[in-house]
Amino acid sequence: MSRTNADAREAFWLPFTPNREFKASPRIVARAQGMFYYDEQGRELLDGLAGLWCSLAGHGRPEIADAIAAQARELDFAPTFQFAHPKVFEVARRLAAMAPGDLDHVFFCNSGSEAADTALKVALGFWRAKGEAHRTRLIGRVRGYHGTNFGGMSVGGMPANRRAFGNLLSAVDHLPATYNREHQAFSRGEPEWGAHLADALDDLVALHGDTIAAVIVEPVAGSAGVLPPPKGYLQRLRAACDRHHILLIFDEVITGFGRMGAAFASERFGVVPDMITFAKGVTNGVVPLGGVIVSKRIHDAFAQKDDWQIEFAHGYTYSGHPVACAAALATLDIYQRDNLFERSRQIERWLAEAVHRLKDAPFVADIRNCGAAAAIDLAPTPGSPGKRGHEAIRRAFFDENIMLRVGGDTIALGPALIAEQGHIERLVAGVERVLKKLS
Ligand SMILES: Cc1ncc(COP(=O)(O)O)c(C=O)c1O
Repeated sequence: MSRTNADAREAFWLPFTPNREFKASPRIVARAQGMFYYDEQGRELLDGLAGLWCSLAGHGRPEIADAIAAQARELDFAPTFQFAHPKVFEVARRLAAMAPGDLDHVFFCNSGSEAADTALKVALGFWRAKGEAHRTRLIGRVRGYHGTNFGGMSVGGMPANRRAFGNLLSAVDHLPATYNREHQAFSRGEPEWGAHLADALDDLVALHGDTIAAVIVEPVAGSAGVLPPPKGYLQRLRAACDRHHILLIFDEVITGFGRMGAAFASERFGVVPDMITFAKGVTNGVVPLGGVIVSKRIHDAFAQKDDWQIEFAHGYTYSGHPVACAAALATLDIYQRDNLFERSRQIERWLAEAVHRLKDAPFVADIRNCGAAAAIDLAPTPGSPGKRGHEAIRRAFFDENIMLRVGGDTIALGPALIAEQGHIERLVAGVERVLKKLS
């Protein structure tokens, strides 16, 4: 790269990226279509993670682009504080219809991080409205990821994301992680061992008494490296929350919209939480949109005495943005028309079969799969955790024409739900060649 190019790229500070290394040897994509990205020279790269878990219907869907363009011309922006527009009602209605159980009201925001913080605020507001304002404690889980805003970061359980930022929210505690390599290594789907880990909520209640407002977990932890719930764990967690009158929030930012072979992971696992957070796939990742789906019981608790009073002092300028809503409607139509949630089950079988073949490849310490998602843990370079994973991203991009997602030394695979078996085989074969080249 010439000096001029390096300077031109200096101003952009990339998130979750080693910037100095990146700018010395950048990985830049300029176009995307279907299962592929293309770099500025037109080189084709297989997309191993549907963008960042979000482009579930594949890239470049003209229906979504057309809907966005038409919406921007017709109604480019409308506030949803004290006003509304037709499509926001329609998206909320459709999401409520897709949601399990009695979850039937939708609060919109713009991202998974905002969705997590919104859900936590709903939980606090709910208990205050119910006359139990002492319930202010929020429980997350070790290895959980709920975005990077203060609430989600605090209940999150990834030390690297919290280390630099001090004490965070004070009234927070964590359930133990559901992952245990000794008992679960190379499990296919949900591991047999670990349902009892949900009972740790009893211990937290013994410690904190009746001050706990809510528990937030990902049904399948995504960012920590695809950690499927042990068989029966989510049912046991639901029962423990019921026993102690604690709200249960499922963060479905990754697991929603077909990744688990159903509209929501809640449906797949047969456990209905009190709230579901969503983002990413709701618009196929084309424009930002997120939100929280809550039960009527929660929604109605916020009712005020007088009709003119605001119920929930929370929201974002772009909550329910018309362009995002237009994108969501076009996206939900595609998911339905192309049966992508069912298709996901086929991808799950292809992916499981292919990825577990890598068991004896170099540096492989564990392999997991659940839904249309899988992860490969690599043994870290001694003394330099994360280095080997980083090398895998680079080798995949430059040598194998693959866009891989790596967190630490874990490779995550989550192709779009339009993937054919050939794409999966190509992806996994590419990963295998990458593993053979790692130092
Ligand atoms: C489960 C979960 N929650 C929240 C988030 C944060 O979403 P965003 O990056 O849109 O803020 C993510 C992102 O990957 C996620 O996986």
